[in-house]
Amino acid sequence: MGHNKNIPHKKAANSISAITALLLICLSLAVKAQFHIIPQPLKIIAKKGTFTLKNNDVIGVDEANKTTGIYLQNYLAKNYNLHLKLRIKPTVAAIRLLIDSTRTNGSYYLNITKTYINITGNSDGIFYGIQSLIQLLPATGPAPLHITECTIADEPRFEWRGLSLDVSRHFFTVDEVKKYIDMMAHYKLNVFHWHLTDDEGWRIQIDKYPKLTDIGSKISFYEKQGKFRKLDNLIDGGRDGFYTKDDIREVLKYAKERFVTVLPEIEMPGHSEAAIFAYPELGCQDSTGATHRVRMLDPSENTFTFMENVLTEVIDLFPNQYIHIGGDEAEVVDWLKSPTAVALMKKEGLTKPEQVQSYFIKQIEKFLLSKNKKLIGWDEILQGGLAQSATVMSWEGEAGGIAAAKMHHPVVMTPLPYMYFDAPQANESLEPIGWNPPVPWQMVYNYEPQSKQLSTDEAKYIMGVQGNLWAEKVPNLKHLEYMVYPRALAVAELGWSSKENKNISRFAYKLNQQYGLFKLWDLNARLPNIANMGDVVTNHDHYSLTLNYPLKGAKVRYSLNGKAPDSTASATSFPVKINEALTDSIKLFAYTTWTFDNQHILQREFIKHVMVNPVDSTGNLQPGLSYSLYKTKELNYKKLDTIAAAVTGILNFPQAFIIPITNTPINNWVKVNGYIKINDEGDYQLTSGFEDSPLLFLDNVIVVNRERNSYVEPQKALLHLKKGYYAIKGYYLADDTNSGQNLLQLQTAEGKVLDPAAYLYHL
Ligand code: ACM
Repeated sequence: MGHNKNIPHKKAANSISAITALLLICLSLAVKAQFHIIPQPLKIIAKKGTFTLKNNDVIGVDEANKTTGIYLQNYLAKNYNLHLKLRIKPTVAAIRLLIDSTRTNGSYYLNITKTYINITGNSDGIFYGIQSLIQLLPATGPAPLHITECTIADEPRFEWRGLSLDVSRHFFTVDEVKKYIDMMAHYKLNVFHWHLTDDEGWRIQIDKYPKLTDIGSKISFYEKQGKFRKLDNLIDGGRDGFYTKDDIREVLKYAKERFVTVLPEIEMPGHSEAAIFAYPELGCQDSTGATHRVRMLDPSENTFTFMENVLTEVIDLFPNQYIHIGGDEAEVVDWLKSPTAVALMKKEGLTKPEQVQSYFIKQIEKFLLSKNKKLIGWDEILQGGLAQSATVMSWEGEAGGIAAAKMHHPVVMTPLPYMYFDAPQANESLEPIGWNPPVPWQMVYNYEPQSKQLSTDEAKYIMGVQGNLWAEKVPNLKHLEYMVYPRALAVAELGWSSKENKNISRFAYKLNQQYGLFKLWDLNARLPNIANMGDVVTNHDHYSLTLNYPLKGAKVRYSLNGKAPDSTASATSFPVKINEALTDSIKLFAYTTWTFDNQHILQREFIKHVMVNPVDSTGNLQPGLSYSLYKTKELNYKKLDTIAAAVTGILNFPQAFIIPITNTPINNWVKVNGYIKINDEGDYQLTSGFEDSPLLFLDNVIVVNRERNSYVEPQKALLHLKKGYYAIKGYYLADDTNSGQNLLQLQTAEGKVLDPAAYLYHL
């Protein structure tokens, strides 16, 4: 898959700056430290007692869920050196796994008493109950393990909670794939979407077409020989390899034991360069015979026969009801140069190449249906007419998914930017290489799969969500884990937990608690940020900050000289108190390390020193800010003064932050103007809760900078303000999704948020 960088990186639903305020709530949650289960269960009732799990305790199972019992037995042995006995229906058992077929799929009841643990559910529910139990265990041994008494009643919100893995751009071994699935299963993710073929490599053995793997799985080898085009998008030159059928069976067995469905993807009609390199006759030949980069399959009889033969072998391997046929980014205009395609268009009365794509997909659909399988594809399969039984995976934003749901087709939501885990997780210049603008976990968490544009009935067609991992820039397992975690946990919670049960501050707290488990599992998740680092504009003559970190044992190397420290700088333990005289702007860098070799993150904070003064005199001021609304294609705020405003008026408080804007194809600019009235000289904090890169001036000094991604680089102004009136001006590029967001917020140094009706004025 390529990446359409033109897809606007539109706002996420909540502000990261709100998270700071919510830290206080997190602290109060810390008393419930043992309950940090992700995804959040429907109901937890905590009790006072403790259960103790020790060597030789018995796990009691039915014959039907013996495999799950063995899974738990192995988990405890591997991670705690704790050895339990497995017994079929014993009279006495420490842990009992009880099938209750009256329960809905995935639901379970976990009862931890002082003397026993019962998990009841269908076989998948029992497995999920075990995952909750695993998260209740201390992250470090040794045995015996003490577990808090509680009951948990739980069930999933969505049936599809997916994570994809692109093994074409960089190959990942069977063991690496198994670990990927194992980690998914811990968070109750249940669909592993295996992207097995693409331009840069064919990864699945097909007996009928041995060259697919003999040649098509060795693309980087051929590239190095100069026989394949330069693999320009891949870092480290790609990684060759393929899975034999036995490899795939091994992965499938492993996934089945973890209640993970494996969805194979065989790309067509685009993204097929590796297959065409192996079998050139499959490629879309242009009529002049000129050689160009061929990654489109020709819609010939030969191609359809090939695909049916390939799919037959795929279907024989994979028990999953769905087969993913790709369908994205097909360069359909290439077909206009293909005699086969042109003849087909004539024969079928097709006028546009998109209709050839639709024809292609419908042929494949017919074949899959004849094999009792269902077709799923990327949202481009809507173009030219959606196949009747198709399920749509919406990646180019949500539009395709919304359209498909409105047509009553099942949908999996995996939209850019929220669900693309090849994007960096913070400021790009400080993160390992990624693709697309940054997507912090908060953006993922705040995503809602059932769009407001869908009626209740239509929303039922949203089967669930999926995080995607494309591997162009992901050359090895460590980097893979870094990109996917902790974001996958946000997918897990929004896919599993009820909407009412989502709570980002609680999730932030729980996330930090997971790092003990990550360490136990040797999972190289990206480290959490040092709390409260963000850009600051200030007129103070001192800057002080305490660097705190949620993980015990972490170390920090920091600098104030504008040069980023690295592993060679000397390390300090948290907390670190910074107290700097401030005559000029400074740049703080923090390089944080934790347990793994070379596991670190880099953060940066600009502390900009400014002067702001109240105005000497004002005219006759009235409450509220004046505002102007501009409808224009203009992106430069400086040009707004030369454009006539569509609407002008006064923002009267407390309704002030609801601006009359409509969603139109052109931009809505909102400009506000006026004064902040300060009654008491003192220290204040000024921020904006507006998500789409606001620009805020105080006394003509920029205090919130539009160029910063507010999600990734929160900003605040820490100002000492005198009694009087300060000129304020703000520019916001807005649409209706911004309604209700704070244009600005003033609070005291003690954190008391002031009522805007009391301090905003205009002339
Ligand atoms: C995709 O990212 N092209 C599905």
